[in-house]
Amino acid sequence: MSQLAHHEPAVACRGIEKVFGTGDTKTVALAGVDADVFCGETTLLVGPSGCGKTTLISIIAGLLNPSAGELTVLGHPLNQMRGSKLVNFRAANIGFVFQQYNLLPALTAAENAAVPLVIAGEYRGKAVAAARELLESVGLGPRMNAIPSQLSGGQQQRVAIARALIHKPRLLVCDEPTAALDAHSGQTVMQLLRRVAVQPDRAVIIVTHDSRVYRYGERIIHMSDGRIERIDVQQADVDEPALAGMET
Ligand SMILES: Nc1ncnc2c1ncn2[C@@H]1O[C@H](COP(=O)(O)OP(=O)(O)O)[C@@H](O)[C@H]1O
Ligand SMILES: [Mg+2]
Repeated sequence: MSQLAHHEPAVACRGIEKVFGTGDTKTVALAGVDADVFCGETTLLVGPSGCGKTTLISIIAGLLNPSAGELTVLGHPLNQMRGSKLVNFRAANIGFVFQQYNLLPALTAAENAAVPLVIAGEYRGKAVAAARELLESVGLGPRMNAIPSQLSGGQQQRVAIARALIHKPRLLVCDEPTAALDAHSGQTVMQLLRRVAVQPDRAVIIVTHDSRVYRYGERIIHMSDGRIERIDVQQADVDEPALAGMET
């Protein structure tokens, strides 16, 4: 795969439509979305509940097929990909972070973060070693042998972010990653995501309800009723304290 330069499109949506159901239950979730997401940036996707944010990022992440439109991800026509080709593309290139962390309760933080590598066929020892290194970098070094119930919500979300990044995806997609967190943990998670995002060949898309985190994005896509309302481009707040010094 060719390397994309800084600020080249990571995702291009053209006329993306999504219709759920038929007849009386028909819902037009996306009514023609045109949007670009760029490498080296954090893109925030915002708008009221039900406006189509989760539907759009699920399509961008290859978890849902659009009803119509063209979608290019990292130079590949994702709307034309099916079956194992799509599964393999997703596994190699896309990481997903959910509102609820979805960690496996019996596994330690390091084992949880290692799961995608183990599934990809890596030796368990090597996978866990890679996970330990990544957990250090997200400020969870001292907690890597804890199981999820021994961790705070913010810590669990950081484990989930490490798990989403362990295979070095070029595109990270997060659906309301701070929604279940208190303000302080939410800021910590956003700062971590920003630090991860500021890499020339990687793009991060974050769905958020929380206007307090708008400052962390270069591009804010405002959605309403299945459409893009407007796109704001701004200088993001890159003044971050070192994670090591952060309260966990
Ligand atoms: N699987 C589904 N089946 C039927 N309708 C759905 C489905 N998923 C989402 N919708 C509908 O599509 C619209 C957009 O939903 P969603 O993308 O989840 O919005 P948001 O994430 O912005 O809250 C809503 O009206 C929702 O009810
Ligand atoms: Mg949603």
